[in-house]
Amino acid sequence: MSIATHLLVGKKILLGISGGIAAYKCAELTRRLKDQGADVRVVMTKSAQEFITPLTMQAVSGHMVATSLLDPQAQAGMGHIELSKWADMILLAPATANLIARLHSGFADELLTTLCLASTAPIVIAPAMNMNMYLAAATQYNLEILEKRHFLIWGPGEGIQACGDIGPGRMLDTDDLVQRVVAFFTPQESTLQGINITITAGPTQEALDPVRYISNHSSGKMGFALASVAAQWGANVTLISGPTPLPTPPKVRREKIISAQQMLTASLNTLGPCDIFIGCAAVADYRAKDICQQKIKKTSQDEELTLCLVKNPDIIASVAKHENRPYCVGFAAETQSLEQYAKAKLKSKNLDLIAANDVAKEGQGFNSDQNALTVFSSRQKFDIKLADKQEVARQLLNIIAEQYKKTLTREQKK
Ligand code: PMT
Repeated sequence: MSIATHLLVGKKILLGISGGIAAYKCAELTRRLKDQGADVRVVMTKSAQEFITPLTMQAVSGHMVATSLLDPQAQAGMGHIELSKWADMILLAPATANLIARLHSGFADELLTTLCLASTAPIVIAPAMNMNMYLAAATQYNLEILEKRHFLIWGPGEGIQACGDIGPGRMLDTDDLVQRVVAFFTPQESTLQGINITITAGPTQEALDPVRYISNHSSGKMGFALASVAAQWGANVTLISGPTPLPTPPKVRREKIISAQQMLTASLNTLGPCDIFIGCAAVADYRAKDICQQKIKKTSQDEELTLCLVKNPDIIASVAKHENRPYCVGFAAETQSLEQYAKAKLKSKNLDLIAANDVAKEGQGFNSDQNALTVFSSRQKFDIKLADKQEVARQLLNIIAEQYKKTLTREQKK
């Protein structure tokens, strides 16, 4: 597989800067986008100009910076409607709480909001503000509505803020933003072209007797969404799934299993040609030590029944320590201490990435149509906001593809 270096050649990006301290990063952001071949034009709100000057942005972008809706000279150059049609993407970075609220209400009170209203290009919001302002119900509501209107919300990141508070609200790092812009414009069908991917999905069932079993609430939807998107993007997908009524996605080779031991055998059988292994299945950690050959009978004397369980093999850990080890991506379904437990699993199972899934939150995780994930590598963290599982699968596979590519040698990338 070959990787181009100028991944944004021909792309026209309108960078909309509003008035937050993170505006100082926009000079570097512009330079980095241009390094990738993008043509960047800048629009600044009045308050953005308090943080970074239009002259700086003009110098780095190589274009006049637009600041006013009613500037006859600027309108004579590229008028606001023309500018809104010019853009392949509008990137609002930093996007303040105020800008977000005005976008939510459909204001056209100055140049930037007017452009957003007039444009049919994808609009990305990179929020940046104090953590309490970000967490305020009004901001959360505004973002939720904007997301439903197909605005893309990238970030915010977490960490120490300009005001000294620690929490969510930092604009995503320049690197992260550039990577996401590149990923957005990368033709997705070719992202995984020819890559062999094994995905485990659904629950396992561990028999107790001929009619009973131990299992969990996994529906298989998340793993099937991953399989479906990966196959659409050109991967050769083997889906090893526990019992679920879901139909097999087009172009996916499916292997049906029942128990964890069967899932292990099927998984190990795919190693060798397998490039990427994704463990999305909710594997039962224990199985009955002995499966009763006949139905366990209830007796009138026994008020309690004791089952003796033994540990199941850890499938993804076995794959990750195999001599033909593929790139390994696990999931961590947690109801508390999400980051701590996910990072512990990343390490103990020797994985490359782990997708932490908060399954205590309503409306996501097990058996729901939506999900939200926080993905950790040993060094990086990526947030995937609540969305339907197909969209979450797309975002997760983009991250996996990007990270996987970094592990390839120059020879392998060809
Ligand atoms: O199927 P859905 O209804 O769509 O729900 C999706 C999901 C919630 C099941 C999915 O998003 C998810 O979080 N899957 C992982 C569930 C889980 O069992 O997590 P865990 O934290 O117990 O396991 C950690 C990792 O080890 C997982 O990659 C798991 O597949 C793997 N594992 C666990 C135990 C075991 N014996 N072998 C394994 O390979």
